[in-house]
Amino acid sequence: MRVLVTGGASGLGAALVDRFAERGARVVSADLSGRAGARAPEGPDNSVVERALDVTSDADWDAARAWVEQEWGGLDVLVNNAGIAGGGRLELCSIDEWQRIIDVNLLGVVRGTQTFVPMMKRQGSGRVVNTASLAGLVHPPGMGSYNAVKAAVVAFSETMSHELAPYGVGCTAVCPSYFRTNLMSSLSGADTDLAEQITRLVEKSPISADDIAVAVLDGLDRGLDVVLPDEPARAAYALKLGDRAAYDAQMRATAARAKERSS
Ligand SMILES: NC(=O)c1ccc[n+]([C@@H]2O[C@H](COP(=O)([O-])OP(=O)(O)OC[C@H]3O[C@@H](n4cnc5c(N)ncnc54)[C@H](O)[C@@H]3O)[C@@H](O)[C@H]2O)c1
Repeated sequence: MRVLVTGGASGLGAALVDRFAERGARVVSADLSGRAGARAPEGPDNSVVERALDVTSDADWDAARAWVEQEWGGLDVLVNNAGIAGGGRLELCSIDEWQRIIDVNLLGVVRGTQTFVPMMKRQGSGRVVNTASLAGLVHPPGMGSYNAVKAAVVAFSETMSHELAPYGVGCTAVCPSYFRTNLMSSLSGADTDLAEQITRLVEKSPISADDIAVAVLDGLDRGLDVVLPDEPARAAYALKLGDRAAYDAQMRATAARAKERSS
């Protein structure tokens, strides 16, 4: 199996690189130039190739496609995983921050897809795995920009899974709750209260990136189009679907606590 993972130098991307390699896959671990090569991947020798790839760069994607075509002759799994943290209350999230998070977290996925899906359609096989978030399905207050782009990734993924089914190509959206990674180091913006709250949730989470990676591979084995890889994510989404009034009350209590802290 030939796999390319973006954001492969850290967190969930790194864990996915290791778990795919452990299964005998050949993996490109792609990340920003200063980060690619920053860690020693697990797995058999030479199973992992590290490449610099900024998901916002068309030229980097073109170079990745050329490398994959020349070295492997095709790709079985593209994991659009690279992402940054973002959010902040409505008036505290600038348009520059909106544009940055759209460019990385949404258009990074779109660029990867446009780069490799034509190859997969020609092959008549392949799967695109998009790391969205639970935030793409349930939408806590104070996280407008992050929620919006992750919901867009969920919608885009479902669209792809329908559109590509006749070509034998699949698509999976991954929607985890908070788990421990370096994600919060990418957060910028003026909403320091939101940053503190989310940093605590990420850093104190009992769930590791490896726990999520194992659940993602299990979901792929089962051919799922949406993977809710942890119990808090499954419970939160079930509450929204099953008891909308209780879900709304929970979200509004969170917003009321934020208002109290800011007054
Ligand atoms: N950690 C969580 O609680 C959580 C929850 C839900 C979803 N996610 C999502 O999981 C994905 C992985 O994040 P993580 O938590 O492992 O964080 P992380 O910061 O540990 O890893 C993200 C990686 O993406 C890379 N990256 C950032 N911008 C990039 C770009 N323009 N081009 C290429 N690589 C880039 C970073 O260098 C980093 O190595 C993200 O899409 C994130 O939104 C994380």
